[in-house]
Amino acid sequence: AANERESLYLVSEYASKYFQNILHKTDQGKSIGLSYFKERGFTEDTIKKFDLGYALDEWQAFTDEALKQGYNIDYLEKTGLTIVKDTKRFDRFKGRVLFPIKSMSGRILGFGGRILINDKKAAKYLNSPESDIYHKSKVLYGIFHAKQSIAKEDNCYLVEGYTDVIQFHQTGIKNVVSSSGTALTSDQIRLINRLTKNITVLFDSDAAGMRASLRGIDLILEQGMNVKVCTFPDGEDPDSFAKKNSLEELALYLEENSKDFIQFKASVLFEESKNDPIKKAETVRDIVNSISKIPDRIKKEIYIQECARIMDISEAVLFSTLAQINKKEF
Ligand code: CTP
Ligand code: MN
Ligand code: MN
Ligand code: MN
Ligand code: MN
Repeated sequence: AANERESLYLVSEYASKYFQNILHKTDQGKSIGLSYFKERGFTEDTIKKFDLGYALDEWQAFTDEALKQGYNIDYLEKTGLTIVKDTKRFDRFKGRVLFPIKSMSGRILGFGGRILINDKKAAKYLNSPESDIYHKSKVLYGIFHAKQSIAKEDNCYLVEGYTDVIQFHQTGIKNVVSSSGTALTSDQIRLINRLTKNITVLFDSDAAGMRASLRGIDLILEQGMNVKVCTFPDGEDPDSFAKKNSLEELALYLEENSKDFIQFKASVLFEESKNDPIKKAETVRDIVNSISKIPDRIKKEIYIQECARIMDISEAVLFSTLAQINKKEF
């Protein structure tokens, strides 16, 4: 099995080189893929640093070439790079720009592929399927390029997407990783936990995404880590915001707008629900539930005191809610 995994790594490595070559050396790659990345504001250096690529808009250009180079069809199929249907073989990625996804040690595990024109019929991003080397719930996009900075800065920015990671790097902030659209998992958090105890979650400004991400954050608290959150102005995500701003501006924005997660929940969510008693009760429970995830008892107590103050509720009520939640869990 270790041997087979090695073969999957090798075919993925080959594919990445192939797709980079298409991007930089072919007419279609240059006029469509490279122009796309440049329009997004990525420099040549950035494009190379992240090994970005392009898949031709053809049915089996990649598969044919890989077979010609002697790569085994079984491995091409197992990595999902080739889709086999009866006797026919198709490239999974077709007419898409590609983002290779790397492990902590820099090995290529899979790809994310973006369509060039937003079109409601096709998924914006198509990703490699699960395989023996790619488990999307255990991977963080950008971790290979970020690990040193995460340790050095003793903080990790967590963003939603590939382009958020890349644009941050280009602007000069390198301690950033992405869960790439999947709900955050404990395995992903553990990868960060080895490098720092501090995570700052950066939300896209759409409300739906924010609600969903708020859930995942409790998992960070459970690992005894400190969580801050930072939101962006309407219509912006970390990529679009970083693109418009200098490093100084971005760093200042992050510094001024990162809020402790519990305080954020207590103030923002509470503000939204304070005129509706039923919602208010739900919010209080929600916040205390988050606090209950914190392993450290002293921190827990401090947060209860603070939330009582922010929400103007007695500490006693919050402590008894906490006790109720704990009872349910054991
Ligand atoms: N994603 C996905 N499949 C989709 C949409 C999103 O896998 N159909 C993942 C991608 O990893 C994407 C992330 O979720 O990077 C965040 O989604 P979104 O915010 O919609 O995309 P952006 O990263 O902002 O991409 P872009 O700027 O290219 O639109
Ligand atoms: Mn989003
Ligand atoms: Mn986004
Ligand atoms: Mn975006
Ligand atoms: Mn910038």
